[in-house]
Amino acid sequence: EKGTYPYYMLKEIDEQPLVIRRLIEKYRNEQGELAIDEDIVQAVNEADRLYIVACGTSYHAGLVGKQLIENWAKIPVEVHIASEFSYNMPLLSEKPLFIYISQSGETADSRAVLVRTKELGYKSLTITNVPGSTLSREADYTLLLHAGPEIAVASTKAYTAQIAVLAMLAAVAAKAKGIALDVDVTKELGIVANAMETLCDAKHEMEQIAREYLATTRNCFFIGRAVDYYVVLEGALKLKEISYIQAEGFAGGELKHGTIALIENGTPVIALATQEHVNLSIRGNVKEVVARGANPCIISMKGLDMEDDRFVIPAVHPMLTPLASVVPLQLIAYYAALHRGCDVDKPRNLAKSVTVE
Ligand code: F6R
Repeated sequence: EKGTYPYYMLKEIDEQPLVIRRLIEKYRNEQGELAIDEDIVQAVNEADRLYIVACGTSYHAGLVGKQLIENWAKIPVEVHIASEFSYNMPLLSEKPLFIYISQSGETADSRAVLVRTKELGYKSLTITNVPGSTLSREADYTLLLHAGPEIAVASTKAYTAQIAVLAMLAAVAAKAKGIALDVDVTKELGIVANAMETLCDAKHEMEQIAREYLATTRNCFFIGRAVDYYVVLEGALKLKEISYIQAEGFAGGELKHGTIALIENGTPVIALATQEHVNLSIRGNVKEVVARGANPCIISMKGLDMEDDRFVIPAVHPMLTPLASVVPLQLIAYYAALHRGCDVDKPRNLAKSVTVE
């Protein structure tokens, strides 16, 4: 099934442009306009606040989704880690809608919250890759990711599909509310798919980066600001789960509040710079760590790139950069694991779907 690919993870990374194009086809009406089931759009727009609940990579997609929905549909969104929700239950708004994001649709931590919010009488929407999964059956509404089976334990194409679906939901909800967006989301997702293809072709460069920065290191830091911060959380999770390198993602400005103490000569620091309004400040953060001996690897976006950048991703819409910028991070994690002799598809201690709380 994985054909000529050595690992499912690499195959699934490569499938991402196709998945985005498939989603553009699946979520459009006969007139070719972006379309989502009207009941779902109504439920979203009737809510006074959305509560996204998820774990791991799906939680990271939820963080990006919050930005998209708040910016485009103007609905307040909170994002919660499922396993913490019951102890730290937020004070709920009057008309909440719960959105469960789960590749497998079987994650026990998320299901426990769904059971609870159903008991409380709240409506729910599940965004999942698996039709008929538990979280899909038990929620009021479902949106499918159409990513095809994801076999590798490390989630890749489901993450980008989740963000694409959240972007489409945000755009359709905005339109239904009469908010005029200055962005054609279908067109911009098409541009993203092309950018992803270019990025998937940059395997050799990513292998080089992994070799140069991560072949023998004990740890690695990722930094980003604004939406790049959410993407570096995901980049760090990918790296640690498959290569066993201790990796952490930080908001660029936060490192100096403690963690910078860990920077030594040669410590790799991977920085994302895809957002114009924070471009100079993230570069300032890179200078701070370089002054302590860090080995910096800046991944920026065309138009915002500067001389010392290690890699430049093609330009995409500023709200959709996570779909593109995560691809090099996925590939870097893949090659780091490969170089270090790890079983990429089946990392130790992990299962594809976590069915215990
Ligand atoms: C990381 C990873 C996990 C899952 C998490 C939630 O690569 O795969 O962090 O994202 O266990 O799983 P789902 O999305 O199936 O609920």
